Amino acid sequence: MCSTSMSENFVFSLAILLLLLSTSCSGSILKTKAKIKSAVFLSPKFELGPGLVVNGIYYDIDFPRGHVAIKSFNAEVVDEAGNPIPLHETYLHHWLVVRYHQSKANLQWNNTVRNSGTCQGNTLPQYFGLGSETRGTATDIPDPFGIEIGNPAEIPEGFEEKWLVNVHAIDTRGVEDKLGCTECKCELYNVTVDSHGRSIRPDYKGGLVCCYDHTQCKLKEGFEGPKRSLYLKYTVEWVDWDDFIVPVKIYIIDVTDTLKLSDDSKGMNSDHNCKIDYIVEACNADHNEANSCVHVKRTSLPLQIGGYVIYGVAHQHSGGIGSTLYGQDGRVICSSIPTYGNGNDAGNEAGYIVGMSTCYPKLGSVKIIDGETLTLESIYNSTKEHAGVMGLFYLLVAEQLPYPHFRHSTRSSFFMDVNNIFLDN
Ligand SMILES: *[C@@H]1O[C@H](CO)[C@@H](O)[C@H](O)[C@H]1NC(C)=O
Ligand SMILES: *[C@@H]1O[C@H](CO)[C@@H](O)[C@H](O)[C@H]1NC(C)=O
Ligand SMILES: *[C@@H]1O[C@H](CO)[C@@H](O)[C@H](O)[C@H]1NC(C)=O
Repeated sequence: MCSTSMSENFVFSLAILLLLLSTSCSGSILKTKAKIKSAVFLSPKFELGPGLVVNGIYYDIDFPRGHVAIKSFNAEVVDEAGNPIPLHETYLHHWLVVRYHQSKANLQWNNTVRNSGTCQGNTLPQYFGLGSETRGTATDIPDPFGIEIGNPAEIPEGFEEKWLVNVHAIDTRGVEDKLGCTECKCELYNVTVDSHGRSIRPDYKGGLVCCYDHTQCKLKEGFEGPKRSLYLKYTVEWVDWDDFIVPVKIYIIDVTDTLKLSDDSKGMNSDHNCKIDYIVEACNADHNEANSCVHVKRTSLPLQIGGYVIYGVAHQHSGGIGSTLYGQDGRVICSSIPTYGNGNDAGNEAGYIVGMSTCYPKLGSVKIIDGETLTLESIYNSTKEHAGVMGLFYLLVAEQLPYPHFRHSTRSSFFMDVNNIFLDN
């Protein structure tokens, strides 16, 4: 049998639905990627009623085990029958998948294993994560690259590697202002304190501070609707680890990062401050006439260790026009542009960002040098104000090119030249 269809029984009689395509199917497509394994998992159930927000953290989720390389990660929100839920009913603000080490002796003791950068502490630590664009954004990592996980040598004695997912979703059925609810405008949430009970600054207009777990966005007068149970359905592809796979590092750059460089005696010390979301002020009418109502936000920061860019994608919210990452010399490292839906169905919801374009540079063609200062630019349409917007850039970087390519490829002399240029600097 070779079926990936999601019949009701199939999904819900097995909490974990594991499809080992490589062993159960044969066919021309699978021959070329015979080693690739694939599984579809469901997050724990979350319940949402009209206007409600869930911001749940679910520990120890189902995930590929063992020493493997992740090749892709896709997700979407589904209901109990497995039907995809459109964004205009349940807005998927974001989902994040985070790696951690769990103490076997003390179940309360767990340490986040963050990605390679660049925000402070455990801010934006995820290995995988997207928002409304998740159904229409490519996440495949080309051969021979992969995200290495589960390497026993990296797991401390007495700990296990585990994964958690954070799902932030907003049920906008029957709300007065769908865009306002998805932008987490504070006035619609009737909140005066944040999730930690601290009072919210009166000038804070909107963002994650106002739409935490269990908050309620303003409904149309008298609207009532049923609660329903939803899941994040996620599909992971991976291959068993071997020495021919080239590991990639994950970087997430946040346009709100206000980096302070301080020069201590040993060298440069950096003090990142990623705030994750920001406000796009509405432009004034004069600008509007000139059709120049765009809001541009930029940040510059160095990448301590560079490498070859394998994949890049930005994350923006409604109103986003595009985002570009530049190198120190002004060259474009990757430009990522949103696609807006124009229909009703899940994956094509009118007015929502349903996909982001991605960058897959030709092997070896985009290199970031060690210590190079990158500039991230995030552009929004500012005809109207937008609260709680984001400007993140997710980058996969390989420190080496695959060795055989380097030696035997017909393009090897090109790579040699590139390397020599950088070695001379
Ligand atoms: C992990 O640690 C955090 C605090 O550091 C704690 O709140 C949480 O309950 C722990 N989770 C598990 C599954 O141990
Ligand atoms: C707003 O919150 C207050 C208490 O914090 C409550 O008394 C009031 O009914 C709420 N208003 C609405 C419209 O939900
Ligand atoms: C911004 O959005 C308005 C509609 O809200 C549209 O008329 C305008 O063309 C957009 N501007 C840009 C630069 O996309």
